[in-house]
Amino acid sequence: MKSSARLLMLLCLLMGPAALAEESGSGAKLFAERCASCHEGGVARAPNRSLLELLTPQAIDAALTTGPMQAQAQGLDAAQRKGIAEFLAGRPLSASTAIEVRRCPGEADWFDWRRPPAALGWGIDRENRRFIPGAVAALEPAQIPHLELAWAFAYPGLIRAASEPLIAAGAVFVGSQDGDAYALDARTGCVRWIYHGGGEIRGAMVMEPWSTPAVKQGSRGAPLLYFGDNFGTVHALDARTGIPVWTRHVDEHSAARVYGTPVLLQRHGRRILYVPVASFEEVAASTASYPCCTFRGSIVALDATTGQPLWKTYTIPAAPVEQGRTASGTPRLGPSGAGVWSSPTVDLQRNALYFSTGNNYSGPADANSNAVFAISLDTGKVLWQRQMLAGDASNMSCYAPLPGSRFSLGNDVNCPVPFGPDLDLTGPPLLIHGPQGRDVLVAGAKSGTTYGLDPAHAGKLLWTTRLSRGTATSAGGFFFGMAAEGGRIFVPLLDFPMTYYPQGDAAALADSTPRDGLYALDAWSGRLAWSAAAQDYCTRAHCGGNPAAALAIPGVVFAGAVDGMLRAFDSHSGHMLWEYDTSAEVTTVSGERAHGGTISGSGLMVAEGTVYVNSGYGGITGTPGNVLLALRVPAR
Ligand code: HEC
Repeated sequence: MKSSARLLMLLCLLMGPAALAEESGSGAKLFAERCASCHEGGVARAPNRSLLELLTPQAIDAALTTGPMQAQAQGLDAAQRKGIAEFLAGRPLSASTAIEVRRCPGEADWFDWRRPPAALGWGIDRENRRFIPGAVAALEPAQIPHLELAWAFAYPGLIRAASEPLIAAGAVFVGSQDGDAYALDARTGCVRWIYHGGGEIRGAMVMEPWSTPAVKQGSRGAPLLYFGDNFGTVHALDARTGIPVWTRHVDEHSAARVYGTPVLLQRHGRRILYVPVASFEEVAASTASYPCCTFRGSIVALDATTGQPLWKTYTIPAAPVEQGRTASGTPRLGPSGAGVWSSPTVDLQRNALYFSTGNNYSGPADANSNAVFAISLDTGKVLWQRQMLAGDASNMSCYAPLPGSRFSLGNDVNCPVPFGPDLDLTGPPLLIHGPQGRDVLVAGAKSGTTYGLDPAHAGKLLWTTRLSRGTATSAGGFFFGMAAEGGRIFVPLLDFPMTYYPQGDAAALADSTPRDGLYALDAWSGRLAWSAAAQDYCTRAHCGGNPAAALAIPGVVFAGAVDGMLRAFDSHSGHMLWEYDTSAEVTTVSGERAHGGTISGSGLMVAEGTVYVNSGYGGITGTPGNVLLALRVPAR
């Protein structure tokens, strides 16, 4: 039942790399003495150790040396700080800190504010359809095979590149694993500014629309740029300078993270930022002494001008209560979990905000996990919710420890009984508009199952289509995001050639063929239009599936794969038009050699004839990397 493979998948695909390293003895000891009381003790605002472990050794060292942890590091010498940083990050604090980014010379520093953002947010449009209109993409299907590398940017010292770039004003705005935000020149890839934030940035940046009076009248000069980070903080920067205008911590829980991208909306004369809140408490629970579990997912509405909170709606309405004690007397608390992992979907007609939730972390499992919610855009009141899979409480303490892993998993102490299959709804529902208001919401789960829901009838289930092998483990299925063109939905799927199943799933046991790839469905019936299963075009032993969010332009859908291949498919036939190896070594704009790896996470961007893709997701089965590539058809 316990399977380390499940753990591998979940960690590497959903949350990031778990670099395997020897526990650095003195680093571990110093951490236990000097840091653990706050960073493993559930102290409000102190990011849980599991979140610190997602940072690079450079970022941790910087926090101790010049950042917010200077006081806590008092009395530690450079070697001790290094030891702690290497222990937490699980890799050496290497010489790569020396890599310099190339700053833009004079002219390239100039923002062209006549070129508006290519996307309203992570989902491109408010409906999360991830469709770039032809005028914005400026890329014809026939041009795609002629795309070439225009430039490559390497994030200094990082081992993951997984956020979604925003293109606006002739610049690329993008967040990094170290919590840094960059503005790069879109033409050449040189750096206009860098902002040093806190936790890793996993989503996209969102820019204030140009029509905002303050921007139009030039009273503030430049629009604001918003993003969330892995420490549960939302940042608002001046887009021209990268200087922060406000920052706001949206959840006091020590494991809280803003993983999905906030949505910006003008409501009754006020600009509101809707922030999805998820957490890493399922990993924190693997520490046996951790009181599991107390996090509840939520949507927080902020005033976008000031960062002031307006309201907060929890996915689980009541705070967790004691459900018993562990053998050593630590309270067990629940229900918990049901985090919101992705960018919410807006329905202006129904005045609703839709989002999906993940699993419960502790027992009892409740009706709020693995569900699609609709809440009021104005008050946050829950309008309806529909659960796709009940009884799904699980966390990392349920999984076997990995040989050689730094993660102290498998303690079993915090594993809920019964233990669920961890079939989150990680990506958001897409809203597809039909004739006469016949709209449909399409959602997907890690089970490899897609669902059609009726937003006019409280999310009534219209259809269910199981696409991939859909093993009830975190090793398969749908992760980050679908795309759509008209009424056609494109579902990227991942299925590993592994045979670990929850007890009793006989159907899954009988069918162990991986069916990773890209699938097209009809939004109203759920019927399959075409499938581009990886084994149909893959020339390698195993291509890996398509964990990254898909993206569509007219006639074409893009999917990024575990093997680092970015592929373009004809959206009518599913025929593969082009593939490009983003994992190959390249020379970057600053002159060093770097490479990408697995493509996963938020997804790519297409604007002004250029494809922008982050490559290097890392993890144990994926490959790390740290490049942002710009591909375009060279001018002849
Ligand atoms: C007294 C409690 C406490 C102790 C002890 C402590 N921390 Fe922290 N740590 C915090 C809090 C609170 C934050 C969040 C700070 C903020 O939001 O500005 C934080 C943030 C951090 C961050 C993220 C910094 C960033 O860039 O945002 C790192 C890394 C970190 N701590 C490492 C450590 C290490 C390593 C130690 C041991 C040497 C340590 N901390 C000791 C409370 C503590």
